[in-house]
Amino acid sequence: MLKVRFLGHAAFHLEGDGFSALVDPFLSGNPACAGAEGIEPQWIFVTHGHGDHLGDTVSIAKRTGATVVCNYELSLILGRQGVNTMGMYFAGRTQMPFGTVRMVKALHGSGVVEGDRVLYGGLACGFVIEACGVKVYHAGDTGLTSDMALLAQDGIDLALLPIGGFYVMDCEDAARAVGMIRPKRVVPMHYDTFPPIKADPRRFAQLVGDLAEVRTLKPGEEMEL
Ligand code: NI
Ligand code: MN
Repeated sequence: MLKVRFLGHAAFHLEGDGFSALVDPFLSGNPACAGAEGIEPQWIFVTHGHGDHLGDTVSIAKRTGATVVCNYELSLILGRQGVNTMGMYFAGRTQMPFGTVRMVKALHGSGVVEGDRVLYGGLACGFVIEACGVKVYHAGDTGLTSDMALLAQDGIDLALLPIGGFYVMDCEDAARAVGMIRPKRVVPMHYDTFPPIKADPRRFAQLVGDLAEVRTLKPGEEMEL
């Protein structure tokens, strides 16, 4: 069994037997954050270097000793800040103590703002995390891309997809993504946190129809798989 809790924006907590992971832990500066208290992750997955995804990664990793799983360039940037990292890239499935992880493409940037400079943060990604017998796809920030059709063969139990538009897919594109990915369930994310990414998850659910079960979680809400 795996519990998946939405922490607001694109941040999620995945928890199962002996397994605790955060994905894109944008918590302290996140106006939509809820339910993030008392989490002690062993793993932190970071999809790209933008502040609304990297978020509190460094402070949480330093406090808990969690290993940050991210692309290679981000792992170099975070490693210099005293964080344990696992820098990887698009590949097959990598065996992990809890299951497997596969880094997959996202159509987006990954620069890291440091003072008045932007550091090269490698390529933005999504993750297919298989833990406690459940396969979760966190898409990160991404536009619609036909690469998503490759995921149909992975048997995704739960897809976490951005729907807010402007920087990422909107409701229409995200519904088309569901048609390609064919997950059993889908949770919309990355909307309503800031004015440019306003979206109506009910419209998304309508467009998805019976392609998948849409679960709209409020920040702080969780589901069990
Ligand atoms: Ni981004
Ligand atoms: Mn974002």
